[in-house]
Amino acid sequence: MSNVVSERPAREGGTPVRETKLTVFASAISEEAIHEVEAVLRSGWLATGPRVAAFETQFARYVGVEHAVAVTSGTQALELALAGLGVGEGDEVITTPLTFVATAHAILNRGATPVLVDIDARNWTLDPALLEAAITARTRCVLPVHFAGRPSEMGPLIGIANRHGLPLLSDCAHAIETGYEGRNVGGYGVANAYSFHPCKSVTTGEGGMVATNDAALAERVRRRRFHGLVPAVPGSGWLRDVTGPGCKANMSDLQAALGLHQLRTVEERHARRCVLAERYREALQNSEAVELPAPVPSSQRHGWHLFNVLLVPERLRIDRRVLIEAMAAEHVEVAIHYRPLHCLTYLQDRLGVHEESCPVATQVARRILSLPLHDAMSEADVASVVTALGRVIGYYGC
Ligand SMILES: Cc1ncc(COP(=O)(O)O)c(C=O)c1O
Repeated sequence: MSNVVSERPAREGGTPVRETKLTVFASAISEEAIHEVEAVLRSGWLATGPRVAAFETQFARYVGVEHAVAVTSGTQALELALAGLGVGEGDEVITTPLTFVATAHAILNRGATPVLVDIDARNWTLDPALLEAAITARTRCVLPVHFAGRPSEMGPLIGIANRHGLPLLSDCAHAIETGYEGRNVGGYGVANAYSFHPCKSVTTGEGGMVATNDAALAERVRRRRFHGLVPAVPGSGWLRDVTGPGCKANMSDLQAALGLHQLRTVEERHARRCVLAERYREALQNSEAVELPAPVPSSQRHGWHLFNVLLVPERLRIDRRVLIEAMAAEHVEVAIHYRPLHCLTYLQDRLGVHEESCPVATQVARRILSLPLHDAMSEADVASVVTALGRVIGYYGC
């Protein structure tokens, strides 16, 4: 980390490191993408149509599965996948606390109960060593989250899930490009749920996808996403029947046009974030106030949705909230992902969990900080973040 100890942080009246604000996430939408969306606007068909079908086919191919069903959000993708797997009232779904609340809401909205299993301190994903003890007669699904884009330990998790006859549904909201032992993480488990929220590496504005090799599951999700409608008789066109429950969660062609464009450049943009993550790692490796995420084994591929560090509180005279303010004054946005599920009031009330329920996640989450990482960033942007952090830590450190 560059030595700028003597410089006064902007929070104390110094000149900000950056002139313009650098955000944690940003969507880079090219002119070409805008033209593709415009073409849909002019086509006369805005709802679910040929672009959605093409996006589903190409997305399935990219993550290495047979079927993909496009929906309106990652939350809907989780909920519809759970419904398709038959998860409902009174069931339990095992998941990790270090995730966005959407994972829990999707389970709760099915009438099921999230059972939180702590994370492994090394990779911040569901700890397979704790999984078996959490399985009960009511468990219906195991739902790991590939936090920040780092793969969960799929080998052990799938081994345990299979032994108990449980389907594994991956929350892949951070993990479009993530790989485990040579293939995309989407090829593991029974189904995967993706998010195309604007902060994700493939965006459709808002949107999501269920991806699976199970044709019957894909068909159940497909029906349910649009009111449960089916042809009244094969090939009957507008004459339709409803044979099961439904909702309104179909993606539009406008969204899919953007998604198709984003998918074409997903690999090159991922490569860019890999370089930026490596620059962070090089620049921060000797910092005493910041701990880096553990290196990724060569058999795994990090999606680099987030670049998180852990602050070392003993090395700082300020708490994380003030550090975030001090970074903002340098025009660098940093963020917290996440306040874990067992520390959220609603889930504490509903599930009877508390801060000590998942002690590893509590400790990690108290110290975690996300630095800006997105493919519109340059290496100079990374350098400015490191300089700002160095200045703040240098001034407020001990
Ligand atoms: C881990 C995780 N799961 C699920 C979701 C839900 O996705 P969406 O916002 O598209 O509903 C998110 C969104 O940020 C997420 O980060």
